[in-house]
Amino acid sequence: MGYFLGLLLLALVAAKGSEGKGVCDQSPLKWCRSQETASACQAEQWCRASNDTEPPAAMVDVSLYYESLCPGCRGFLVFQLFPTWMLLSEIMNVTLVPYGNAKEQFDGKQWQFTCQHGEQECLGNLIETCLMNVLHKPSVYIPIIFCMESSEDVVNNAEACLKLYQPDVQWDTIMNCVKGDQGNKLMHANALMTDALKPPHEYVPWVTINGEHTEELQQEAMNSLITLVCKTYKGSKPAECGGSAVHHKNYCLS
Ligand SMILES: *[C@@H]1O[C@H](CO)[C@@H](O)[C@H](O)[C@H]1NC(C)=O
Ligand SMILES: *[C@@H]1O[C@H](CO)[C@@H](O)[C@H](O)[C@H]1NC(C)=O
Repeated sequence: MGYFLGLLLLALVAAKGSEGKGVCDQSPLKWCRSQETASACQAEQWCRASNDTEPPAAMVDVSLYYESLCPGCRGFLVFQLFPTWMLLSEIMNVTLVPYGNAKEQFDGKQWQFTCQHGEQECLGNLIETCLMNVLHKPSVYIPIIFCMESSEDVVNNAEACLKLYQPDVQWDTIMNCVKGDQGNKLMHANALMTDALKPPHEYVPWVTINGEHTEELQQEAMNSLITLVCKTYKGSKPAECGGSAVHHKNYCLS
């Protein structure tokens, strides 16, 4: 008998606990343990807003197929891609593929490349490819590529741009890649990636969003990449996207 009473009491206590009563006098973080506790503590809205156990949304993949000396590509890099990435690097994953309308041929030893804007462009494509390969992190190489593309002479300013942003990296490290087998292989990989595009690219700059290219996406990217990335991102929008971030009234009415 006493045994059953004990169980009953335990069950009652458990039921009370699961309603959340006891939880509400504890830390507000505990209010959000479950829908029930949140509701019992009348904190549902607050818990939803501060529920950071939600898995983060996937980043928006923005890939740019381009050529280092094509004026339209340079304009897009400098006026759309770079400023957007500056604001939204936390939610966008940038892939740069310098190759574009170039052609390649294997001469039995190495790949030979022919670029739309001549040999300097092939060299610019290679330098940027090697910068990405040697420096790895977009946060490290994107500013250098931006510096090159926004300067008067893309190729001849490359070394100065590297010095400016990564003074500890030797220019020779980059040039060893450019002149060697590694650069040749990396550029061939760019060619394969470009040739694998579906639909095949018809012009540069050619943009894909999450691997997809349509005329509409391309137009939106050209007009306002930031709007497109914000619109595409599935997670809660960062403040930089404007409008849709969580708003707090931070003023007092008299
Ligand atoms: C917080 O998120 C988790 C996982 O998505 C969910 O199980 C839980 O119910 C959420 N809490 C509230 C109070 O909405
Ligand atoms: C970024 O994109 C590349 C290629 O498009 C992919 O391999 C990589 O996993 C992506 N990274 C993140 C963090 O989404």
